[in-house]
Amino acid sequence: MGQRSANETIRHAVIGTGGMGSNHAGSFAAIPNCEVAALCDLDPTRLSGVAAKLPNKGRVKTYDDYRRVLDDKSIDSVSIATCDHWHTPIALAALMAGKHVYVEKPCAHNVHEANLLVKAAAQYKKCVQHGTQRRSWSLHKALVKALREGVIGKVYTAKVINNQLREPIGRKPVSAPPAGVNYDRWLGPAPKHDFTENRWHYNWHWFWDYGTGDLGNDGVHHLDVARWGLGVGYPKAVICSGAQYFYNDDHETPDTQTVVYQYESCQILYEMRLWTNYGIEGGEENAAVFYGTEGMIVDGAKGVTVMRIDKRPVTITGGKESNFADFIAAVRVGDPSKLSAPITEGAISAVLCHLGNIGTRLGNQHLEYDPVAQKITQCGGREAEANRLLTRTYRKGYELPYKG
Ligand SMILES: NC(=O)c1ccc[n+]([C@@H]2O[C@H](COP(=O)([O-])OP(=O)(O)OC[C@H]3O[C@@H](n4cnc5c(N)ncnc54)[C@H](O)[C@@H]3O)[C@@H](O)[C@H]2O)c1
Repeated sequence: MGQRSANETIRHAVIGTGGMGSNHAGSFAAIPNCEVAALCDLDPTRLSGVAAKLPNKGRVKTYDDYRRVLDDKSIDSVSIATCDHWHTPIALAALMAGKHVYVEKPCAHNVHEANLLVKAAAQYKKCVQHGTQRRSWSLHKALVKALREGVIGKVYTAKVINNQLREPIGRKPVSAPPAGVNYDRWLGPAPKHDFTENRWHYNWHWFWDYGTGDLGNDGVHHLDVARWGLGVGYPKAVICSGAQYFYNDDHETPDTQTVVYQYESCQILYEMRLWTNYGIEGGEENAAVFYGTEGMIVDGAKGVTVMRIDKRPVTITGGKESNFADFIAAVRVGDPSKLSAPITEGAISAVLCHLGNIGTRLGNQHLEYDPVAQKITQCGGREAEANRLLTRTYRKGYELPYKG
């Protein structure tokens, strides 16, 4: 698809109509001259529930197999709001089918997939936007500009806070999947495993076969802001410490995690405590904090607050513009360079999450990753295992459609 006039309708499809996918459906439908023409989910109850809320209800096509969405030549773009383990397989297939792609964070379930996605986006010359929406907010564009201009002097450390109470999930027995659900396709590339309620909607986040823990879930948002604010990409080393101190249930992913991303001239700290909701740095539960030689900035739910040592008041303001509308504007002109949250940036932030998780899972290691060779070069003697975790074994019939 080339350039489109402002009046032409972009036909969009949402794949995955759960908590976030229902938000996608409503938000894309609200963009002028964008129609949510198709929806896809493996859970028929969710699918029909979201379809019934759309302004074009009765006309919107519904599918349980994303490949049928991709077969539809009239669809221009898709957004992917499935569980993490399905993001890249669907995104790659969509690019190969000629669609523009909005992919939820983290864009990939492992480092190899993130790298493939960047390559495929460039090869097929399509817009691929990442669901780290702060990149589209004028508030955060103003924050990054102020940091570059030295509003708090030279910044040597950014801290990402993820302090929130996530209740234990208990232990759920094997049971039958809900009626009408194609659970085998839900598992897709992941290993075969009996259905349990915990391995299903939302709680899949806490199982390595489908999710990426809370580092890849909530952590990635402010990790992306920290990296953007500091103007850095891949770290030279990743120092990991994490465990399950709080949970004694079906959780596989840590409840406590501290990761230090070391760069030539600064560092990013990721601090995660899922057993408390007391805020820090002014009461924030999820935030990016920048520490400079002349002050600090807290970017969290309460807004962006600048505290200079000399007490000079500085305010940073701006809006929270839609990442979805930003994507559709780029799709309309067929120009990936117009994206605010391009996959080239999203992939790096996703890789940082994966490296932090690999180092934590393999015994809290000091890890080094070579982004050119796409290999882990150091991981406390466990390099072979670490490199295996850069990818996964895809279940037969669910191999990646694009090899790079
Ligand atoms: N950007 C944000 O602020 C934000 C916020 C919340 C969630 N998310 C992301 O959105 C994604 C979905 O999260 P959620 O909380 O909505 O999870 P969820 O479990 O509520 O929803 C996922 C949906 O995808 C469906 N699904 C799974 N595999 C599918 C497939 N192959 N084809 C079609 N449908 C499939 C499931 O049936 C389910 O309805 C996650 O990757 C999450 O990280 C992003």
